[in-house]
Amino acid sequence: MNIFQQDTLLLEESDILYLIKKIGLKNFLNQLRNNLESGFKDFFLQKIQVPPRAEFFFPRGTMESMPAKDENYFACKIVNTHLQNPLIYRLPTIIACGVLVDGKTGFPLMLTESTILTALRTGTASAIATKHLARKDSDIIGIIGNGAQAIPQLHAISLVRDIKKVYAYDIDIEASNSFKKTVEKRFGMPVILADTEVTTRESDIVVTVTCKEKNTPPVVYNEWVKPGTHINAVGGDSPNKVELEKSLIERAKLVVDFKDQAIYEGEAQQVGKDKICSDLAYVIANPITRDEKDITIFDSVGFAMEDLVTYEMIYDLAVREKVGKQVNIASRPKFIKNLYESYFAEIQ
Ligand SMILES: NC(=O)c1ccc[n+]([C@@H]2O[C@H](COP(=O)([O-])OP(=O)(O)OC[C@H]3O[C@@H](n4cnc5c(N)ncnc54)[C@H](O)[C@@H]3O)[C@@H](O)[C@H]2O)c1
Repeated sequence: MNIFQQDTLLLEESDILYLIKKIGLKNFLNQLRNNLESGFKDFFLQKIQVPPRAEFFFPRGTMESMPAKDENYFACKIVNTHLQNPLIYRLPTIIACGVLVDGKTGFPLMLTESTILTALRTGTASAIATKHLARKDSDIIGIIGNGAQAIPQLHAISLVRDIKKVYAYDIDIEASNSFKKTVEKRFGMPVILADTEVTTRESDIVVTVTCKEKNTPPVVYNEWVKPGTHINAVGGDSPNKVELEKSLIERAKLVVDFKDQAIYEGEAQQVGKDKICSDLAYVIANPITRDEKDITIFDSVGFAMEDLVTYEMIYDLAVREKVGKQVNIASRPKFIKNLYESYFAEIQ
């Protein structure tokens, strides 16, 4: 922690990439997983506080502010979901930026790029859920929705399970082709492009990470899911936007990232609070026994604790590596109690 720094540290995309390159992407993901697991434990111990996020709806998308605090810091992420962005504006569906604030003083320590960080922390949250919930011998994964989040999901999960084969489906064949090309080249795993049913039936671990519209039919149906499957449901993260058939959720052990939010934004909105088996923080603190045939679902809606912990990690790295730019976005007036004498003496 560097509370005596001059100004606010600005981390741009190039800074984030520099830091990740410096320690390596795999190491970064492993370190992030350890830190997020500690974050889940701290949330369980009530050392981290998170209110449900505020959501605002526009005709073309959703805006959210995601605050969280621990003993030393406050963080807030501003993030959207605009499904038509790639097609109309050549922008990502999900765009995010974040701020980390010193709890002692309220001074903003860091402003950061957060689109890349969101993808990495969301993949890592699925990896933690997979580590604690999926069968140990799970080695075939199905990824439904092959957009920006898809490869980070696969990469992070492949660090906790020995993935040998990948099935993939997207309504956009170009997205699937691009996914296949990168995964085969980079990770050496064979990728079979198939429809949703085959992708689901053949997989031990299924990740649903689509940007489907609200009030549309589910993506994965109960009858396709074989006993023993673990599902990370990532794309259903808003009211009336769900990816799994209701009877599938009723059949499974449902574990959510954050109860107070999942109950109206996640797959849990279909079945109500009583059907939630537990949250991930509880599972990490008190491992659940899984029967080989159990179906487990991790209902990931996006949890501000994950952003707080990710920002603390990237801030520490940036300070250590002296990366980023100092920007004066929170003034320090010369006369603390007199803004006019400090700033407007010459300005009428
Ligand atoms: N839970 C979290 O923490 C979290 C974090 C980030 C993003 N998300 C969610 O993940 C989803 C994906 O985000 P992204 O950044 O990858 O978006 P993206 O637009 O880059 O990719 C989404 C892909 O889903 C495909 N798709 C849409 N409907 C489909 C369907 N019915 N079947 C198969 N494929 C379909 C699209 O063609 C697209 O390629 C979004 O819904 C977003 O809200 C969740």
